[in-house]
Amino acid sequence: MLISDILRLDKTGIPVKVEGWVRSKRDSKETVFLSINDGTCIEGIQVVFEKGKMNSAEDLLKQVHTGCAVTVTGNLTASPGGRQHIEVQGSSLVIEGTADPESYPLQKKRHSLEFLREIAHLRSRTNTIQAVMRVRNELSMAIHTFFQERGFYYIHTPVITGVDAEGAGAMFQVTTLDMSNPLRDEAGEIDYRGDFFGQKAYLSVTGQLEAEVYALAMKNVYTFGPTFRAENSNTSRHLAEFWMVEPEMAFCDINGNMDVAEAFLKYTFERVLSRCHEDMAFFDQFIQKGILSAMEQVVHKEFTRMSYTEAIHHLKKAGGTFSYDAEWGLDLQSEHEKYLTEQIVQGPVIVTDYPKDIKAFYMKQNADGETVRAMDVLVPRLGEIIGGSEREERIDVLGARMKELGLRQEDYWWYMDLRRYGSVRHSGFGLGFERLIQYVTGMQNIRDVIPFPRCVKTVGF
Ligand code: 4AD
Ligand code: MG
Repeated sequence: MLISDILRLDKTGIPVKVEGWVRSKRDSKETVFLSINDGTCIEGIQVVFEKGKMNSAEDLLKQVHTGCAVTVTGNLTASPGGRQHIEVQGSSLVIEGTADPESYPLQKKRHSLEFLREIAHLRSRTNTIQAVMRVRNELSMAIHTFFQERGFYYIHTPVITGVDAEGAGAMFQVTTLDMSNPLRDEAGEIDYRGDFFGQKAYLSVTGQLEAEVYALAMKNVYTFGPTFRAENSNTSRHLAEFWMVEPEMAFCDINGNMDVAEAFLKYTFERVLSRCHEDMAFFDQFIQKGILSAMEQVVHKEFTRMSYTEAIHHLKKAGGTFSYDAEWGLDLQSEHEKYLTEQIVQGPVIVTDYPKDIKAFYMKQNADGETVRAMDVLVPRLGEIIGGSEREERIDVLGARMKELGLRQEDYWWYMDLRRYGSVRHSGFGLGFERLIQYVTGMQNIRDVIPFPRCVKTVGF
């Protein structure tokens, strides 16, 4: 039985079988207490062995240490003391796998998250990482439920692509060429005709452009998968491999887009609050004080919406408090995003209508000729969590913008076709899944909310 199921039983006096890993062992003259955890809940279960009562118990119990895998059978009883309400009176014990106490790196004391990052294959056995992964699991399901209940189709967009979908570089190249001796053309350039795909290929930075293909055929779709960015930014909110949720909706403008983004975020928050109570209480106590009530408040408050121009106005009024000046035309820095959400709004804010020069080529241009219908959702502690926009559906405007930016229309011929045949207003956004988990749990570093983080100079173990 799973320990989470055992702890939910309201009966005692029944036989149970516990399978899990020993977190700690406490030895007294006549009894041995084992705390066993199987990752299904924070608490784990306490098993009590009375030394005299088991066959050859003492020898066996001596070999049990933190980290061992064990199977225990026994009787579920009310627990007389301590924090737990029930415990198991152990009657048999099998040591499935031993763990040498001299070398097993996880001992009962608290380890720093930095230390745990160095043992990504074992940090999965800690309360913090397990709580994060349970919340991550719940959020994944919440994402699917939200969109499925609203008639969105889940479309799997490709991981390998031939186009630069954000038009801004930072992509990982995919190749089977022999890098020490690649084929070269007459000019001495690498000849990609000899590469696996016969052209340059990359890991995708977004599934958006392909999602547009299906939205402009099946109305509402979403993609949810890994995306890759070779950004050389070693921060607590950037990964080289992260997961993104990207809905795309036809016949939808930027206002409809914002409504969906807000409803979507609130749905995921509520779902975690109602289904991960024990884990949220843990984060509230050990990771980010007050996160529970903060999240509850967010669910019940309308998100503030303001234009980029208004945002700049607020930031300028704040004067010289920033290390980067806020200036119309420049991108918002994370210190600006924090100021807006924490000081001005005290909650999430949706910032719209950014200058076109700091946003991607596909965003719909406003009549002012200077701004585009972008919408970023910013949240306290983190800044940007969602980036989205209404898309430029006018082929001439899109073509002209691409030309200005030096993008070749031939490379995007199929994307242009979507504007040539049955074009219609459409919108979508991308939510950084790990940033969502950070926001909900209060975890400070993005490396601690993904099972195996990949970032600059870090891959594998
Ligand atoms: O704002 P971004 O770049 O938007 C897009 O890629 C659009 N194509 C999305 C769309 O409209 N369908 O990225 C979207 C979100 C960001 O707001 C951020 O939360 C997250 O993806 N993100 C990252 N998360 C972790 N590590 C990184 N390096 C990230 N880069 C972006
Ligand atoms: Mg963005």
